[in-house]
Amino acid sequence: MVTCLKTSVAKLNLENPVIVASGVCGFGEENVGVLNKCGAVVFKTVTFEPRSGNPTPRVVDFSYGMLNSIGLENPGVENLIEKIKYIKRVKTIKIASLLGYTDEEFVVILKKLEEYKIFDAYELNLSCPNVEKGRWFYDKKILAIMLRNLREATKKPLIAKLTPEIDIEVWVKIVVDCGIDAVTLFNTYTGIAVDYEKRKFRLANKYGGYSGPGIKPLVQRWVYDIGKNFNIDIIACGGVLFPRDVIEYLLLGAKAVQIGSGYFRNPQLPVECIKFLTNYLKKEKLTLDQIVGALK
Ligand SMILES: Cc1cc2nc3c(=O)[nH]c(=O)nc-3n(C[C@H](O)[C@H](O)[C@H](O)COP(=O)(O)O)c2cc1C
Repeated sequence: MVTCLKTSVAKLNLENPVIVASGVCGFGEENVGVLNKCGAVVFKTVTFEPRSGNPTPRVVDFSYGMLNSIGLENPGVENLIEKIKYIKRVKTIKIASLLGYTDEEFVVILKKLEEYKIFDAYELNLSCPNVEKGRWFYDKKILAIMLRNLREATKKPLIAKLTPEIDIEVWVKIVVDCGIDAVTLFNTYTGIAVDYEKRKFRLANKYGGYSGPGIKPLVQRWVYDIGKNFNIDIIACGGVLFPRDVIEYLLLGAKAVQIGSGYFRNPQLPVECIKFLTNYLKKEKLTLDQIVGALK
């Protein structure tokens, strides 16, 4: 029996459920051989204006994860044209990630991305780093209006990537009601790192986004709970460092799994996850469908 890893998530047909998360492979400038073996690739988040990111140091590495304050460094949606030559080399499902600082800006960015005619789907980065401006971030009515406007602006699949630092079930309900096709659980957790010898913050920005193995049990809890309580495709994202982590997320109900900071530690990790999953299904004589959500 040939082991099939094909899966459907957010109305997209993926060759396998392994996805590279936003922010770790830029716009596909490097390692394209590995990217092309993935079920999908999510590119770096694009904002309306170009952003040069936060001052350095902006990354702290721990054995149990990493803290980053990159600050959404990206060329801006108009200048994305410079990256199209790289994006085109990625032959798998291509997902653009976008973030608007206002509800109106979000829709403008989506429409501009549509004009490139190169993306298969869009991941809405709903982790607004600037709560001052992002009315949609704290006003649920505005969030719903914005999601409906985004829904109207494209026929392509829309994925809402949530931060865990919100009222998660309230947000998922809004996302489902507005016709969004899937949720990505989650972006990073806000953290601080201290250098006790220098008596200083370790990030120039003080705060950073915490990712990696330390967050995996927290994310796994929500993948399981949201899967039990809502009828929406779930893409898990958090702490994948070993190939077995992907299988754990699938068992809990995720239809696909993103690899974020684990990709920095090991750029071959997506390929290792795909191979491991194939061998696991063969050895256990199971299909992918049989393991997705098998833990009740
Ligand atoms: C250096 C770095 C940059 C990131 N940039 C983005 C980004 O631009 N957009 C986004 O939605 N998530 C971004 N993320 C978050 C990841 O996509 C992912 O949600 C998070 O790291 C949790 O997954 P992980 O534990 O596998 O790393 C970034 C993460 C890191 C470590």
